[in-house]
Amino acid sequence: MNVLLLGSGGREHALAWKMSASPLLTRLYASPGNPGIGRVADLVKLDVADHSAVAAFCQEKKIDLVVVGPEGPLVAGIADDLRAWGFRVFGPSKAAARLEGSKGFTKDLCTKFDIPTAVYGRFSDIASAKAYVEKAGAPIVIKADGLAAGKGVTIAMTLDEANAALDACFEGAFGAAGAEVVVEEYLTGEEASFFCLCDGATALPFGTAQDHKRVGDGDTGPNTGGMGAYSPAPVMTPEMTERTMREIIEPTMRGMASLGAPFAGILFAGLMITDQGPKLIEYNTRFGDPECQVLMMRLKDDLLVLLNAAVDGQLAHMSIRWSDETALTVVMAARGYPGTPEKGSVIRGLDKAEGEGVQVFHAGTAINGGALVANGGRVLNVTALGKTVGEAQAKAYAAIEHIDWPQGFYRHDIGWRAVEREKTGN
Ligand SMILES: Nc1ncnc2c1ncn2[C@@H]1O[C@H](COP(=O)(O)OP(=O)(O)O)[C@@H](O)[C@H]1O
Ligand SMILES: [Mg+2]
Repeated sequence: MNVLLLGSGGREHALAWKMSASPLLTRLYASPGNPGIGRVADLVKLDVADHSAVAAFCQEKKIDLVVVGPEGPLVAGIADDLRAWGFRVFGPSKAAARLEGSKGFTKDLCTKFDIPTAVYGRFSDIASAKAYVEKAGAPIVIKADGLAAGKGVTIAMTLDEANAALDACFEGAFGAAGAEVVVEEYLTGEEASFFCLCDGATALPFGTAQDHKRVGDGDTGPNTGGMGAYSPAPVMTPEMTERTMREIIEPTMRGMASLGAPFAGILFAGLMITDQGPKLIEYNTRFGDPECQVLMMRLKDDLLVLLNAAVDGQLAHMSIRWSDETALTVVMAARGYPGTPEKGSVIRGLDKAEGEGVQVFHAGTAINGGALVANGGRVLNVTALGKTVGEAQAKAYAAIEHIDWPQGFYRHDIGWRAVEREKTGN
């Protein structure tokens, strides 16, 4: 079959790499892709906001499946439009993508279907938001309702910080995404990412991961899109997975269906594992980046078979096999990230870094005058499989030693929590 993959990050490189191993694949196109994706796909330039142009391409190239990587096009309704033109799309409808596109929508769904989450209020005017904050007290969490590229959440340790975050939101720091806010209780516990492959009716667990959002070693410094991740997440024991399915995922699937917006695609639950059990922090309606990279390393089955089954509503008949090994990815970023990254520096040695159980996924790279150069904040994802987290970590860092890129940097402690756990045995 012919597949069109939309997106250009490390997530999409991992998806392209995995799909390219499928005997079902005839031709893979990616738009816009990146040089790593270009090793396994034909790169094309489509305006993803122009749904009819994407449809025309699908017509011309006889595309059998469109796989949407990032959230923006999903929230904008690309899956609905392409389906209306008769194309098969892996990714939720616009109505189902509200689970990511509006934090308030998801919170109300939790209330309606009794899904454990932080106590909250939804506000579209600053006076009532501030009154709620005053009453609830700090610490408290302020969230822009809409898509804010990971920058819309403030964990306010004081009332002053909370009020400043509300001012910023309502003054337009996040544009339309901040015209409404969610104010919620501060939860404590360990975070985990939980993925499900969904076909509208059935949700199949699709792996767990933990990521590192802070830019610096020891989880210090500003937040980023993610500086590394590993899978599985040790905190997601079989019991915790079972509770998450029963208390969070299954009511969400039933709830969305009852609202006339059945969820098909990847449902990515951000969880806080609290003393009382798993609580939903948020939903994303696509794979995480870099979580996807570690999931793809561990997936034993044919990804295209699974995506097709999700599109065709056949997941009730499927099971998914995973490697028992741990996968760990270290993000190499360009100097300046998460501020303004330096672009254009030359990267060498990737061929020496890859080997048995080690993949280097491209995120923000480009080719300039025949050389591979940095072209974004997060640039490479050095990803390794190991029998333990410690072994995967050692392999990933050994691979990095081969990469010659003085203008890049990375964290030296990805997976530290899980490695400690392995050492102490709990
Ligand atoms: N209620 C909460 N209590 C404690 N920490 C939270 C809470 N909500 C969010 N966070 C922290 O903020 C991060 C970002 O929040 P999230 O809702 O996932 O928004 P986004 O990923 O869209 O920026 C979470 O990963 C978590 O670390
Ligand atoms: Mg999040």
